[in-house]
Amino acid sequence: MTILVTGGLGFIGTNFILGHLAAGGDRVVDLDLATYAGNPANLAHLPDGEHLLALGDVRDRALVDRLLAEHVPRALVHLAAESHVDRSISRPAAFIETNVVGTFTLLEAARAHWETLAGADRDAFRFLYVSTDEVFGSLAPDDPPFTELSPAAPNSPYSASKAAGDHLVRAYFRTYGFPAVTTHCSNNYGPYQFPEKFIPLMIINALAGKPLPVYGDGRQVRDWIHVEDHARALSLVLEKGAPGESYNIGGRSERANLEVLEAVCRVLDGTDPLPVGRHMDLAVHVTDRPGHDRRYAVDSSKLEEGLGFMPGYSFPDGLEATVHWYRANRPWVESVTSGGYREWMRTHYGMEG
Ligand code: NAD
Ligand code: TYD
Repeated sequence: MTILVTGGLGFIGTNFILGHLAAGGDRVVDLDLATYAGNPANLAHLPDGEHLLALGDVRDRALVDRLLAEHVPRALVHLAAESHVDRSISRPAAFIETNVVGTFTLLEAARAHWETLAGADRDAFRFLYVSTDEVFGSLAPDDPPFTELSPAAPNSPYSASKAAGDHLVRAYFRTYGFPAVTTHCSNNYGPYQFPEKFIPLMIINALAGKPLPVYGDGRQVRDWIHVEDHARALSLVLEKGAPGESYNIGGRSERANLEVLEAVCRVLDGTDPLPVGRHMDLAVHVTDRPGHDRRYAVDSSKLEEGLGFMPGYSFPDGLEATVHWYRANRPWVESVTSGGYREWMRTHYGMEG
């Protein structure tokens, strides 16, 4: 048996594929364009019999048709995306192309493939769309967390493009009976995250003694989940989720950005003390992100009570393990922080990457 995964060279895709195979899962065909955020070295140690990389674009209908016909996967797990909010603000077009047109292309190709299946194969086929809690917009401090019934209210070009995918997936289930399932996960952290995102950027800059750029007052709240817990939840939804349903995935770990940064700095003060002062002294408040969502929080009781999910990592333990992973994997960091990364650090932060 085979599953087709898109975006398997990225942060969550890499962790999902490693977890899936470690749990004895079936072979993975991985469609990925290897953009700046995708690193072929992450999974290069796996034999083709376990992980077969198909380099290409999710918008390439002919390629997607060929992969479906050749490998006849029992499921498609769609993770490929442009995923960084700040980049969506400065260059939104790629988000519409990959996240909207790409998702539409995959839905069309997978629907045509599903219609060729019969009997048990047709009943078992699933399309899992990996969306984000950011489609629900921003919460006030005392609001209850997002549920599956919260209305879509995206505030960034990134979250709007992901919400467009949500709507298409819903319509394909309602119109064609196409067996698609959607997940909305909160902010992930852990190994292999590209260091443009908050936690790895802070770890890497702190290790280098560079400024730690905090947007605005730093009191924005995110609900953090370890990426391995997210990956486990995706496997659970893939096997047990009901077609047409959506499932929220959260970590039960709401933290303000400054609290997260303080926790990172505390670990590094112990392991890599600065010659003078503490790592937190490197924090600088910089201009806030336009349209910055104040708070995200996720109610995952449907997943917990319905499918038996519980996050395995506590945030303090997961965060400390993550800091150690980046300290121990500096060659990985160096290999992904290419010329393009350095250009992003210069234009977005006015600092050398
Ligand atoms: P990422 O940016 O680390 O990886 C994205 C991957 O998609 C990369 O390997 C990239 O090469 C690939 N890709 C990009 N454009 C492509 C295209 N046109 N065709 C084929 N491949 C392409 O992203 P991530 O953080 O791993 O997120 C994966 C998914 O999970 C995304 O859909 C994202 O919206 C969703 N998500 C992320 C988080 C988070 O905290 N990171 C939280 C909830 C949901
Ligand atoms: P990020 O990792 O970009 O995830 P998202 O915006 O999708 O939640 O950012 C997490 C939080 O950290 C968010 O509130 C923005 C903030 N942030 C900073 O304060 N400084 C930074 O340099 C970055 C990248 C993010």
